[in-house]
Amino acid sequence: RKGKIRQAMRLLGKMAPEERPTFGKAVNETSDAVSGAMENRRAELASERLGAALVDDLFDPTLPGKRENRGTVHPLTLLDWRLDEIFRSMGFYILDYPEVDSDFFNFEALNIPADHPARDMQDTFWLDDGHLLRTHTSAGQVRAMKNFEPPFRAIFPGRVFRYEATDASHEHTFHQVEGLYIDREVSVANLIASMKTLLSEIFGREVLVRLRPGYFPFVEPGFELDIGCLVCNGGGCPVCKKSGWVELLPCGLIHPNVIKAGGLDPEEWQGWAFGLGLSRLVMMRYQIEDIRLLLGGDIRFLEQFQGTGLE
Ligand code: DAH
Repeated sequence: RKGKIRQAMRLLGKMAPEERPTFGKAVNETSDAVSGAMENRRAELASERLGAALVDDLFDPTLPGKRENRGTVHPLTLLDWRLDEIFRSMGFYILDYPEVDSDFFNFEALNIPADHPARDMQDTFWLDDGHLLRTHTSAGQVRAMKNFEPPFRAIFPGRVFRYEATDASHEHTFHQVEGLYIDREVSVANLIASMKTLLSEIFGREVLVRLRPGYFPFVEPGFELDIGCLVCNGGGCPVCKKSGWVELLPCGLIHPNVIKAGGLDPEEWQGWAFGLGLSRLVMMRYQIEDIRLLLGGDIRFLEQFQGTGLE
């Protein structure tokens, strides 16, 4: 109100009428020019402040970059990939069979009829419609024989399920890899030679193997295959419970009844099979002490496999 422009306007009243238009016009023009200049300057200041804020507050080139959080490959998958590669190079098909299967393929066709005591070895999750969650990958054996012309060889890796209490070495869900080899004149010598080769491939060095008799209705003879402990080289350590040997995979020559169930003549065709505990193998490979860690989904466990490759 005490500004020069206001004062000038007040002078207007005291002026002679003929002077008023020119003076009034000059005052108005001055007033417009000043407020226009102020408006411009205000806008300029505002944009300067914005620019400064952008530089000072929002962009700090010295801050560390944002690290990308990458997923890791699960150790079960890593080992499964490696096995696929080894077996494929040896002429095996890699097959994928259903997790929900029938009594026939999981038991009956494997020479385990209803009421056979061997059914108690594998506590089963039964579905309401009579199907089941496969208790072992052996359920794929007869399917494979029906699907392929002999001779052929195949592995089928996958999840299997058992209705049992869990602890450090038992899970209701775990992974196996079934191996199946069908040909003429297959012998135990052939089985042992094949197992030795593939175990050496898996572990990347010569492996000692030992066979003990093992009972499974779908093989005859059946074996438990042990390998010389890779941690102590047979000297005795906690991993092998000081015995120098670690139980690794059951195997055997396929029972003639199973060959028959697969639609083949056991006089002409024989074979061997094995059931590798993939979960167990992963635990040995990475020294994992509790099987529940494998499927527990704990990110602290999984992150440890960042960038791990099986050379
Ligand atoms: N299926 C058996 C199990 O899970 C393991 C097994 C034993 C598989 C002998 C085989 C075999 O192929 O020949 O307990």
